[in-house]
Amino acid sequence: MTYKSNKTHRSYYICQQCGYHSPTYLGKCPQCDSWNCLVETIEKGQGERVKGKVEQAEIIDLSKIQKTDYKRISTNIDEFDRVLGGGIVAGSLVLVSGDPGIGKSTLLTQLAMNLKNVLYVSGEESARQIKLRVDRIKPNFPLSVLNETDVDNIIEKIQEIFSQGHSNLVIVDSIQTLETGDLESIPGSVGQVRECTHRLQRLAKLFNIPVFLVGHVTKEGNLAGPKTLEHVVDVVLSLEGDPTSMFRILRSTKNRFGPTDEVGVFEMEDKGMIEVKNPSKLFLDTKQQAPGSAVAAILTGIRSLLVEIQAIVTKSSLPMPRRIGNGIDNNRLQLLAAVLQKRLGLPLYDMDIFVNVTGGLKLDEPAADLGICMAIVSSFKEQAILKDAVLIGEVGLLGELRAVRQIDKRISEAKKLGFTTAISLQVAKNLSQAVKLALE
Ligand code: TYD
Ligand code: MG
Repeated sequence: MTYKSNKTHRSYYICQQCGYHSPTYLGKCPQCDSWNCLVETIEKGQGERVKGKVEQAEIIDLSKIQKTDYKRISTNIDEFDRVLGGGIVAGSLVLVSGDPGIGKSTLLTQLAMNLKNVLYVSGEESARQIKLRVDRIKPNFPLSVLNETDVDNIIEKIQEIFSQGHSNLVIVDSIQTLETGDLESIPGSVGQVRECTHRLQRLAKLFNIPVFLVGHVTKEGNLAGPKTLEHVVDVVLSLEGDPTSMFRILRSTKNRFGPTDEVGVFEMEDKGMIEVKNPSKLFLDTKQQAPGSAVAAILTGIRSLLVEIQAIVTKSSLPMPRRIGNGIDNNRLQLLAAVLQKRLGLPLYDMDIFVNVTGGLKLDEPAADLGICMAIVSSFKEQAILKDAVLIGEVGLLGELRAVRQIDKRISEAKKLGFTTAISLQVAKNLSQAVKLALE
């Protein structure tokens, strides 16, 4: 079982739109006229590929496979395990993405320190810089670091230590700094990122070692590099948070071995990222009893979380009033504002609406609709929402409230935190009934 480097293969530039081949880079594809879509790719000999397939192909009878459960390694960080679906699966390739400075390296360094025999490959920082970070978390911890950017050298080294039984986990920080000599494009280019990821994936599957990759995101919030990167890896985790707040939310956007709606909550402190065991309490810590503030109960995986939603509604001086949401989808906000205007008769057409979800959480569940609507109504009317009320419900286009899943779990989380009134479909059929019950 050895890993073969593809050093002998030639590379071509291939148009990602129409498949046109060119031996050199071209800004515009001569066949389909698209711009900037030629990506350097290693071309394998056609005959060799077919032969390889025939030799390796093997039909497997699934009933002969004994154990369907994956062997999982615990990270010893509960919030991290939760997002992974119960721990790291052997042989999996996990991508951790996030904005620069959000804490990816810190979290993965902590992960490396929690497990034995971890190799931390860094193309981004020197061993000295990594030591500074390690010393903040656990002074003088003996972490094995490899400063290298050539993916083939890295793979060779991993094979070497793996054959001596020395590696449980490999962390690569970051995939954008890696390169292979088989391609001439620069590190971070689509071709390089894609090829390096493929090579690491082959390594992970062949040796059954889990590999974590750090990936940067672009200004638009997309993973830098091709979308195919997300297809290749088994798990995509994203670390999010408002840089001005200490909260960091880890969520999985793809997981071949677990749920994708779980979130892990951390707080960035002096000694690394600390898990937050009771996030609802922390999110509501700074809540004030004032117009424009509402509490919603959302569900993330198997856990219910309470979040504060704040809104401010003010007279607009623009011909097209603004609807700006932080932590909620802007289209959803537009829609809910239209429902409020039509069904409750609120004159919002010349009002700017700003909505913010505290704690840096992103709400993608319709069950938060009622909370968002109530925060807006409360700010518009300058009337606070009842102190002990939590709002749960999806809002339909006719202004009706709709059932949400697992209402009991949400209500019990609210009770734990001292809320005594739950405004949901059980007590209000539509928005106007909910408004009557919720406002002071
Ligand atoms: P880092 O993990 O380097 O971010 P990324 O790899 O995502 O770019 O984290 C950078 C920030 O975290 C930096 O501003 C310093 C801060 N930090 C702490 O607040 N506490 C700590 O214990 C550590 C190690 C970093
Ligand atoms: Mg980093």
